[in-house]
Amino acid sequence: MSIALTGDRPTGPLHLGHYIGSLTNRLDMQNKYQTYIMIADTQALTDYFETPEFVRKNVFQVAEDYLAVGLDACDIFIQSTIRALPELTMYYMNLVTLARVVRNPTVKAELKQKSFAANAPCGFVCYPISQAADITCVQAEFVPVGVDQLPMIEQANEIVRKFNSMYKTDVLKESQAILSPTSKLLGIDGGAKASKSLNNCIFLIDSPEVVKQKVMSMYTDPNHIRVSDPGELKGNVVFHYLDAFWEEKEELAALKAHYKKGGLGDVTIKQKLIEVLENIMQPIRERRSKIDKKQLEEIVYAGCKKANEKANDVLYKVKDAMKLNYDIV
Ligand code: TRP
Repeated sequence: MSIALTGDRPTGPLHLGHYIGSLTNRLDMQNKYQTYIMIADTQALTDYFETPEFVRKNVFQVAEDYLAVGLDACDIFIQSTIRALPELTMYYMNLVTLARVVRNPTVKAELKQKSFAANAPCGFVCYPISQAADITCVQAEFVPVGVDQLPMIEQANEIVRKFNSMYKTDVLKESQAILSPTSKLLGIDGGAKASKSLNNCIFLIDSPEVVKQKVMSMYTDPNHIRVSDPGELKGNVVFHYLDAFWEEKEELAALKAHYKKGGLGDVTIKQKLIEVLENIMQPIRERRSKIDKKQLEEIVYAGCKKANEKANDVLYKVKDAMKLNYDIV
């Protein structure tokens, strides 16, 4: 079976944006590939290095979210437990120029957004190199990600080619991105992206009451004052969410037509959305209620053990290609 690797930075609980952006894709993949899911805590530290406890706190939250959505056929592991990663990263650093990492479009965009801009720590600027180590340490052939991660995969493949040709080996494998079918989810406030830092998302851990309250607060059409008024779909967050989550496309088309014509109130469409979301979230809540902490830890630790074994094997072969192995230890 081909190997796939994917992952998230543990900087908060997962939300509906993750659900349509990557989690449904992974649910589909876990039966087709041997799937590793990395909780990228070391990478999260490249911008949360002042508050490691914050990252630590979110590691098991994210692991619990994975299991709650049904990702139970994957190996979930914690990046910082993989001993081979920093060593692989060190070797790869020599194969990449500083100019090349700074040119990485995602890093470039992130540098612009961050407060540290001109004083960016090396750890941050070089994270694409450590991500190349992530991808290669399990010999991943497929990497399910969003479009913003394409430059990381391209850069990892450059490193793979350079390493293999320089040290005359084929131990490292090139990988291929698998893009999620769905694009970004808007925030409940109509903002361009649902995100934890903007506090405009519905978390998978939200209770039915919170979901209801968040949907009721959603932005619709400011000119749709009376029920009889015709309503606008463009920029209407409720319909954006219905588009993303409601499978009954014919019913949705009928609802849209009715809304446009007039005679359909905002409360009615919001209630429909609550029902649609609850159909997705209820099974997640139920699975979550059955997960106990000890069992969750055991699952994650088993994933760490398995990923470590694989990564140690790859590291051994990498060092062999570089004639760096010694007979001691
Ligand atoms: N960079 C990814 C993100 O920010 C997380 C990540 C780290 C990752 N290592 C990875 C994704 C390896 C896929 C493969 O979401």
